[in-house]
Formats: sequence, C-alpha cells, structure tokens
Amino acid sequence: MDMRLAVNSLLRGAVQSAFPQLAQEDLPQPEALEIPPDSKLGDFAYPCFRLARPLRLAPAKIAEQIASAVGDNPLAAAQNVGGYVNFFFHRAQFARDVLSRVLSQGQAYGSRPDNGRTVVLDYSSINIAKRFHIGHLYSTVLGHSLKRIYTHLGWKTIGINHLGDWGTQFGKLIAAYKRWGSPEMLDEGGVDALNALYVRFHREEPDNPGLSEEGRAWFRRIEEGDPEALAIFDRFKQLTLAYAQTVYEQLGITFDSYNGEAFFNDKMDRVIDELRAKNLLAESRGAQVVDLEAWGMPPCLILKSDGATLYATRDLAAALWRKDTYHFDKSLYVVAYQQNLHFKQIFKVLELMGYDWASEQMEHVAYGMVSYEGQAMATREGHVVYLDDLLSRAREKALDIMREKSPDLGEAAGEAARMVGIGAVVFAALQNNRIKDIDFWWDRALNFDGDTGPYVQYTHARCCSVLARAEEPAAQPDDEALTNDEAQAVLRLLSRFPEAIAQAQADNEPSAVTRATLEVAKAFNKFYYEHRILSGQPGAVAARLELTRAVRDVIRLGLYLIGVEAPRQM
Ligand code: ARG
Repeated sequence: MDMRLAVNSLLRGAVQSAFPQLAQEDLPQPEALEIPPDSKLGDFAYPCFRLARPLRLAPAKIAEQIASAVGDNPLAAAQNVGGYVNFFFHRAQFARDVLSRVLSQGQAYGSRPDNGRTVVLDYSSINIAKRFHIGHLYSTVLGHSLKRIYTHLGWKTIGINHLGDWGTQFGKLIAAYKRWGSPEMLDEGGVDALNALYVRFHREEPDNPGLSEEGRAWFRRIEEGDPEALAIFDRFKQLTLAYAQTVYEQLGITFDSYNGEAFFNDKMDRVIDELRAKNLLAESRGAQVVDLEAWGMPPCLILKSDGATLYATRDLAAALWRKDTYHFDKSLYVVAYQQNLHFKQIFKVLELMGYDWASEQMEHVAYGMVSYEGQAMATREGHVVYLDDLLSRAREKALDIMREKSPDLGEAAGEAARMVGIGAVVFAALQNNRIKDIDFWWDRALNFDGDTGPYVQYTHARCCSVLARAEEPAAQPDDEALTNDEAQAVLRLLSRFPEAIAQAQADNEPSAVTRATLEVAKAFNKFYYEHRILSGQPGAVAARLELTRAVRDVIRLGLYLIGVEAPRQM
C-alpha cells in the first residue's frame, strides 16, 4: 500500500463524515497532501484552505473538524495546526507497512505494470571516426538511466544510437587514408589513427588545394555507392563502433538500434516531397528551406544549393521513420542544449507538416556542459578528456583508495574498484539537474565520505556485510525497535522512493533517483551509528535486520536505475 494513497483515503473518509454536504469533486486528492519540511510536523499535511470556499468555513475550523473525525485508526494520528491537518503515522505500524512492501517487491519496488506505451530514446549518438570524449558521457549515461527508469515504470523502451555517420568530412577522411594510411595503421591505431588522418588532412589542405578536391570526389563516391568508397567507410565505422563498444561494455549499456544518419539516405525523398506538396519549402539563396520566421526562428535548412541534404533533413526523416516503425507514444532526444534550436526547428516543421504528435510526444532532453577540473572541454589541443581514459583512471584511482582502506579485500579488490571507479563517474554525472553544467573533479567524485557514488556503494556493502554476519533470526521482528527517530527517517525515505522514480520519469530527470538513493544511504548511516543492529533482544535484532535488508534492496535498485553497480564488498 502506498502511504500517500492510504492517508488520502483516511482523510477522505474523515472529510465525508465531517462534511457530508461537500461535493464529490471537492474531496481531497492524494496530490494535495504535502510533506512537511520538518518531520516533527507530521508525515503528511493537508492544507484545509482548499475547502474554505466550498464549505464557507475558516480553514482552522475545517482542520479541527477533520482532525477529530479522523479519530482512532491503525494508520495515523491527526492533529490540526493553523489550518492544516497533520498526519503522524503510528510508527510501528508504519515500519511494518513499509518493510513488507519493500521486502516483498525487492527490485520491483516502485515499478508499474506494462502500460502498453512505447518510448524511443535517442542517446549517446556518437560520431564516426571520433573518440568518445567526456562531453558524450552525459548523453550516454542520462539516456541509459532514463531507459531503465521508463522500463521500471511499465514502458516499452527503444534505445537508439543515432550515429553521426554521414557528411563531407568522411570524404576527406578517405582521401587522407588513401594518401597516407594503410590497413595496418588502422589495425594498430584504431580511432586515434583516424583522428590523426583527419588532423593531417586539415593541416595540409591550405597548401595543397588538390586535397580538397580529392575529399569532395571521395564523398561523391560514397554518395553514389561506389564499392571501394563504401568498403573503406565501412571499415572506419566498424573501427569506431568496436571502440565505442569497449566503453559501453564498461557502463553496461546496450542499444536496440544503431540506425544513424546514413541509414536515412534513401528515406529523405518522402520528407522533401511532402514538404513540397504541403507548400512548406521556400527558396533561399539557392537552398530549400522551411521559413520559421513567424515563430522567431531562423529557417530550417532542408536542401543545400547543390541538392545535398542536411542534419535537419535526416532528423525529420528519422522522426517519421521512428513513428512508423515503433509507433511511439514518446520520443526523447538526449542531446546537449547547444542543439536547442535544432530540435525546436525540427518539432515545428513536423507540426507544420500536420503531425500533431510532434509537439505532444517529442521532447529534447537537454543537458548542460561538462568541464573537467575547472577547464571547459574544448577540442583544442590538450583539453580533451576521453571517456575511455577517464574510466580507466577512475578504476585505478578507486583501486588505490581501496587497497589503502580495505587491505584485506585481496582478490575482490579489482572487481570492486571497477564498480566503484565507474560508479563514481556515472553518479557524479547524474547527481544534479541535467541542465546544470557539471564540472568533474576527481577528489569530489571519489570521496568516500561525500555525496558520492562510492559513499552510497559503501553503504550498500555495509548492509551486505551486516546481513552476512547475522544469524538466522530467532524471533519475530519487533517493530517497536524501529520507532526511534533514526529508523523512522530511513523508513520515510524508503516509503517515498517510488515517488522519486515517478518524478524522474515525469521530468526526464534521473537526478531525482540519484538524490533519493543518496538520502537513503545517509539516513541509514545515521541509524547505523546510533543503534547497534546485531545486539539486543532477538525480536529487535530481527526488525533491524529487516530494515537493513530493505535499505540494501532500495540502494541497489536506485543505483541500478542510474546505471551504477552495487558491490557487496569494498
Ligand atoms: N551526433 C550528434 C552529435 O554528436 C548528436 C545526434 C543526436 N541525435 C539526433 N537525432 N540528432 O552532436
């Protein structure tokens, strides 16, 4: 039973008996229950001014009558204060309710049954021939977390890596490869070799005009489907994907589709024909555009003067194809806020084409900039931090810390360091509201005592170790052992955890889950320092162990939903 719903039905019963004249639609709704800022004011509070108008009574008077109508009941006591009815759960009963819910559901806690709806998530969406830099971290981990959160809440999810695998730069890359490259060089150097070729092309281009022409010629050959061009390009693609895979594997990420920009090459005529038929195309300096001036936006470029399509044309085709293929109810684009205008334009053009679903179902899930130890991430020399490097350093650093802190871990240290190092990075990325810029600092992310992934993981390991040391409970749990403030604080957070998951989905904001998980860990540690779990009356021990197990389950679930693993020991 959900406590909010339970309190609401208690409240409704009381309101109906105190004020039988009140119309059905004015009866209290669960959302109207507030959570008092201070738990001394109760677990939930109902503001009675909402009923003042229909009842023509002062809120204080209403609160008084409702509170007395609540009377004795197994769930909560009610008090009226300043126009509010404050509800205080009966502590032992509350403990039992929460624990039985959490323990019976385990990793399904807060989940919802299949709702028959589909959400498409476009995330990570890397570019071919480039190494994964830390800027892509955000899209990758945000999208992955949202996918898990939506799945938990009963959605069917489709994760798409909309590869950046089209553009004139690939013609240049082939030209550079033909001049200076070899298969062996690619085998050895991988994506770095591709990058080096690209850099060299740009360095030599100004003094060597022939190069530009070669680049254009190779791009034309790609466009025309020339087998040699396609084979080389395909090799570049495979190389980049194999490299990206090593990063995805470390993060536990998979995709349902890698259909990126090139996939839409033969699917754009439909968009262009339709735009033309609907009279939406206008000519501007030889190019074909959709005029968006009336909406305060620059025109959306559809075709260049040489007939080439653009990023936007591909995204329009992709949106329609995804709708036809997946029949989505929602389509999310997890992309940096620098592309705000692009997505606004795309959504507007689709709307002008008559697709009403565009404005209702499509959303740009924008996020801020990532900087590294105070330095903005520029692709300029020296300031690039690659995600693969970051992850391996995270593992090394975590291993150093753990060798020092837990020397007896032995063999298990490497595996734990992997989870902790990577978890620290992911947790730090998903801790604050996504639109905020983040600045990644090692000391902050890896601080075992701060608001960090390792701290939460450590709490999980602590629960596991307490549970491992415990003997079979010799008695029925005595819930009176959980009526103290510290245990109640933990229980309150556990009981609200499902709301955090729902909030994360409603706002496409995994940080709601990150923070709720952190709060559970903090509250549990406070309880742990104040109360000895394994000593005392067997009934009390049994109750505290159940609390410990529930905390372990919820932390593991919270970490899972943000894409972080939960080590059993560290
Ligand atoms: N590859 C693009 C980039 O790195 C992101 C693509 C986002 N998805 C999309 N459908 N436009 O900037």
